[in-house]
Amino acid sequence: PGRASEAAFLVISLLMFRCCRPVLRRKAGILPSLEDLLFYTIAEGQEKIPAHKFTTALKATGLRTGDPRLKECMEMLKVTLKTTSDGALDRHLFKKCVQSNIVLLTQAFRKKFVIPDFQPFCAHMDELYDNAKNLSGGQVADYIPQLARFSPDLWAVALCTVDGQRHTVGDTKVPFCLQSCVKPLKYAIAVHDHGTEYVHRFIGKEPSGLRFNKLFLNEDDKPHNPMVNAGAIVCTSLIKVMNFMNKLAGNEYVGFSNATFQSERESGDRNFAIGYYLKEKKCFPEGTDMTAILDFYFQLCSIEVTCESASVMAATLANGGFCPITGERVLSPEAVRNTLSLMHSCGMYDFSGQFAFHVGLPAKSGVAGGILLVVPNVMGVMCWSPPLDKLGNSVRGIQFCTDLVSLFNFHNYDNLRHFAKKLDPRREGGDQRVKSVINLLFAAYTGDVSALRRFALSSMDMEQRDYDSRTALHVAAAEGHAEVVRFLLEACKVNPVPRDRWGNTPMDEAVHFGHHDVVTILRDYHTQYSPQETAANKENADDIYLSM
Ligand code: DON
Repeated sequence: PGRASEAAFLVISLLMFRCCRPVLRRKAGILPSLEDLLFYTIAEGQEKIPAHKFTTALKATGLRTGDPRLKECMEMLKVTLKTTSDGALDRHLFKKCVQSNIVLLTQAFRKKFVIPDFQPFCAHMDELYDNAKNLSGGQVADYIPQLARFSPDLWAVALCTVDGQRHTVGDTKVPFCLQSCVKPLKYAIAVHDHGTEYVHRFIGKEPSGLRFNKLFLNEDDKPHNPMVNAGAIVCTSLIKVMNFMNKLAGNEYVGFSNATFQSERESGDRNFAIGYYLKEKKCFPEGTDMTAILDFYFQLCSIEVTCESASVMAATLANGGFCPITGERVLSPEAVRNTLSLMHSCGMYDFSGQFAFHVGLPAKSGVAGGILLVVPNVMGVMCWSPPLDKLGNSVRGIQFCTDLVSLFNFHNYDNLRHFAKKLDPRREGGDQRVKSVINLLFAAYTGDVSALRRFALSSMDMEQRDYDSRTALHVAAAEGHAEVVRFLLEACKVNPVPRDRWGNTPMDEAVHFGHHDVVTILRDYHTQYSPQETAANKENADDIYLSM
């Protein structure tokens, strides 16, 4: 339905503007700076922007005021607000605050992030969260007291997109242990450090078809894969550093539960049995101290995260190894691709095949109730709720993941072109320029100033002409939209006297249709217009747009 109505809209728009009229060469207008355009977009016609309006608008794009990429802007905002009496920013003060981070801010407000309409997307996420909240089945793991103490009612979902857009719902700030969710991370670190060939000298790549802690090796006497305990214990012997975890989480919360570590070690007979078996079969690199490695394994299981910080870790995997909120490359592309492949085939215990079939996304669950889910090139998600099903996966987490791909076309094998039944929240693909003049003239025709502000911020040429050389100014003048006319002239500095193919100017239109207020605006503006200055400024602004 979306595509059909879009096509109909294009045809109707074309016909509509053909009926109106205009020509000739176009005179370049003075394009304002990106900071100015951002001001107009957020101010919505007001002289000043109250600080809370700015931060609310920012959050609506998915950016957080605490995002490390906005540090300079937020610091300057704090300092600047102390100098104002009303907590509001005029254009000059606003520019001062945003200029250090203008590229990121412009991308956010130009809707250039992977999820352009973030608020409706978040509303859907909240619905999916609520849907799973009502589930009451499952058992909280109780083999150690540190897990048994968690309430079965805890339920949280946090997401971070590849552009660092954040959304959280529920108990997203409560620390819990990664447990098996750490397995893909340490495997990624091992491949990052040593490469695929070396790591897979010690560990296989096949699903085991057996429980995660089975005392069993493959035909080559290697653990089946790095997502089961045997493979993860061997993987532990290949890695050295821990600060990877902090980098993966963009320096958000990563802690350690010493009590969990001690309990895991005391109750870890099966893992010791696996360790000795691995040692007997010479599964470790030479010289490995097996019991020290087991300690390290238990420590890695006891790393604490919150749903929020773990969503950044997942987002780093979704983003090819670059942490979205710091921009730092943490993992090699090879490490990320391997990890996602093995999460996809082996990440969900004995439910892995079914999860790959129904959800079609890489994920890894842990005994504390976490499910680390990756939507490659879109976002990372951490779902957390302690009650587990018989196979060890979080009951609410599985429901959420299943519902997510029922609603959105995120399944690896969903068709992205003909998604009749599913939503696609991603940035619109294809060549926007084709539709741009129609959208522009349609906004001018309907008097939609906020759409025009967005177009201007998106570096759209506000002077572009249709088939009859009509400009947005012609259309707005003919329709009597004084606010649009003012915006085009004052903010966008468009040529006030373009001629359509019949030789008519916007002034002719306003006179012809009897819009006296528009006539006055055009006449006043006309007298101030200076074409030389306009051309120079336009070139300058074009350079900025092109470099983004
Ligand atoms: O290795 C173990 O037995 C635990 N620390 C479990 C880790 C985990 O999450 C796998 N579990 N279901």
